[in-house]
Amino acid sequence: MVTNQSVFVQEFEQGLQSYLRSELTPIAFCNGEMALYNLILATKLKLGYGISDSFGVLVPSFTFSGTVNAIVANHLTPVFADVDDSFTLNPDALLKVDDTVKMVIPVAVYGHLPNVDLIGKYARQKGIAVIFDNAPAFGSTRNGKFTHESGFSEIYSFHATKPFTTMEGGCAVTSDPETWETLCQLRDFGQFEKERGDVSIPGLNSKMQEISAIVGLSNLNRWQDILYRRTEVIQKYDRFFTKYEAAGTLRTLKRNSDDFCTFIYYPIVLKEDADGLIQFLASQSITARRYYTAVHTLQFYRGKYPEQDLSVTNNIKNRVVALPLHTSMSDDETDYLFTTLETYFDRSQTV
Ligand SMILES: Cc1ncc(COP(=O)(O)O)c(C=O)c1O
Repeated sequence: MVTNQSVFVQEFEQGLQSYLRSELTPIAFCNGEMALYNLILATKLKLGYGISDSFGVLVPSFTFSGTVNAIVANHLTPVFADVDDSFTLNPDALLKVDDTVKMVIPVAVYGHLPNVDLIGKYARQKGIAVIFDNAPAFGSTRNGKFTHESGFSEIYSFHATKPFTTMEGGCAVTSDPETWETLCQLRDFGQFEKERGDVSIPGLNSKMQEISAIVGLSNLNRWQDILYRRTEVIQKYDRFFTKYEAAGTLRTLKRNSDDFCTFIYYPIVLKEDADGLIQFLASQSITARRYYTAVHTLQFYRGKYPEQDLSVTNNIKNRVVALPLHTSMSDDETDYLFTTLETYFDRSQTV
C-alpha cells in the first residue's frame, strides 16, 4: 500500500495530533495549497453555500499566490486587505467589510502567526467565518497556543522549503467534526462510501502518499531538535539586525515577546528598493528572495478584484528582502551572510 490513507499516513496523522494537541486528528494532504482549497470548500459548504456559489473572502494581498488561487478556484471573490507592522493581516480590515464578505483568511507569512484574538473578535462581531493559512507556520505559537487551540481551523504546508517537511505535503486541523468529515471525503474525490465510490461533492484527489508520511514521521522525531537549532539561528539574526534597526537602516518583523515564530526566511524591509541588495548578495553567491509579494499586483489579479486601502503592502512590496535561513546553518555560514550584509550597508551609508 503506497497511498489511500494507509498505515504510515495514519501513524503520521496521529503523531501530528499528539504534537499539535488537537481534539481531532489532523488531516494529511498532498500539499498545503490543496489543504487550503479543501478547507475553504468545506467551510463554504458548512456555511450553507453550494459548491459554485460565490461571496467575498477577505485576504491579505501580502501573501503567496497559492492563498488567493485557492479562493478563486472555489468560485469565491478575494477582497484584498492590508497588513500591519507584523506583516500579517491588519485586524481593522475586518471592520471595513460590507456584508458580501463571509470569510476571512489571515496568513502567517514567514511563519509569523497573525493576531488571532483580535481577528477572532472582529470576525465574530461581523458574522464572518475565519480560517487560517498557516502554511509556513508549523511549530509557531501565539501565547503558547497553536491557532486551532483558539478554536479556528488552519492549514500547514510541509513543502520541501519549510522547516518541517514531507517533501510535498500539508495538513488541515479543525475541531469541528462536520468540517473534519467533509475534509476526509474531499481529499478522496468526495467519496462517502467505497463500494460504488458514491460522491456527494465533486472532490479533487488530494491524498498524501505513504512515502511523504514516512519522511514526515522521521522529521517529527527530529522536530524538537530542529526547533532548538532553528531558535539559535534566529537569535543570531535578531542580534545582528538590532543595531541596523536602531540606526533606521531597515525594519525587521515586529513580533510580541510571547510569539514563537519558526521563521521561514528572515525578512527585512529596507529604506530603498530591494534590487540593489539582492543583486549584491547574488554577486557574493547568496540567494535572497523577493518574498512575499503583493498578490493584487500579479498579472492574473491586477485590477480584477476589490481592494481595501493597501498602503502598507504597496509601501513594503518592493523593499522587502527574504534572507536565507535554515535549521542547520553553521557559524561560518551566518558569519559569511552577516559580513556580506555589513559590507553592503556600510558601503551604501558612505555613498
Ligand atoms: C502562505 C502560503 N500559502 C500556501 C502555500 C502553499 O503550500 P504548498 O507549497 O505546500 O502547496 C504556501 C507555500 O509556500 C504559502 O507560503
